[in-house]
Amino acid sequence: MSMQTFKLDIPQEKLPRHVAIIMDGNGRWAEQRNLPRFAGHKAGVETVRSVVQLSGELGIEALTLFAFSSENWRRPKKEVGLLMELFLTALEREVNKLHESGVKLRVIGDLSEFPKKLQKRIQDSMSMTAGNNGLILNIAANYGGKWDITQAVKKVVQQIQEGDLTVDQIDEQSIADNLALSDLSEPDLFIRTGGEQRISNFLIWQLAYSELYFTRVLWPDFDREEFATAVKSFASRQRRFGHTGNQILEMEQGKNA
Ligand code: IPE
Ligand code: IPE
Ligand code: MG
Repeated sequence: MSMQTFKLDIPQEKLPRHVAIIMDGNGRWAEQRNLPRFAGHKAGVETVRSVVQLSGELGIEALTLFAFSSENWRRPKKEVGLLMELFLTALEREVNKLHESGVKLRVIGDLSEFPKKLQKRIQDSMSMTAGNNGLILNIAANYGGKWDITQAVKKVVQQIQEGDLTVDQIDEQSIADNLALSDLSEPDLFIRTGGEQRISNFLIWQLAYSELYFTRVLWPDFDREEFATAVKSFASRQRRFGHTGNQILEMEQGKNA
């Protein structure tokens, strides 16, 4: 099942260029099986692998995965520790394969809070894959949308203090330019597994106009077929960005004429 290739029958221009995912439901997946929560996190790594692979096959440009939020430090110490270890071993195990398949790996978030060994691993993995031009894979770790906007504002203020910018010159672009992922188009499709319908302080600015897709499927069960279903849902939507539906149809007809 997992190796089957999908013929999605979706024209390239209807595919999302950038997909952002809150990978939720690992703990409940494990609890349903009377396993420790950590077993769910481990199973979730397999899902990451298959979603990365399918994204590459579909020609999606960027995939951004929420792995650890700035609020997840509130979990029991043991779970946090095991998650750090899993992150480290997954990086060690996967980075060569990712590199071979041309993936450019980046980690966004406040990395200074992580164990030194993990920070080093992250830096090495990012430099190793920096020159690749396949799928851009962003892992959000100790990431929070509010943190992101705060650090962007700090950089803007610094530009003002240094005389490179005036207050009147601040516009949306000045903030956007200093956020994480500023070099990418904003996510077209946002997916959250696990049944909760909230953003949980993920990319709050960058998701302003994303299409939202929520599924009750728990992350370890989110297979290629489930991902394909989310992409198909996206392809069937009309994105209006404030225009009327008719304006969008006219623009599309103009393009196809
Ligand atoms: C998401 O799964 C993974 C992380 C937050 C690290 P959860 O661990 O939140 O799983 P549930 O929501 O408890 O089922
Ligand atoms: C959000 O999941 C963070 C990640 C998936 C990494 P949580 O499961 O921690 O979110 P809340 O706290 O239930 O909203
Ligand atoms: Mg959760």
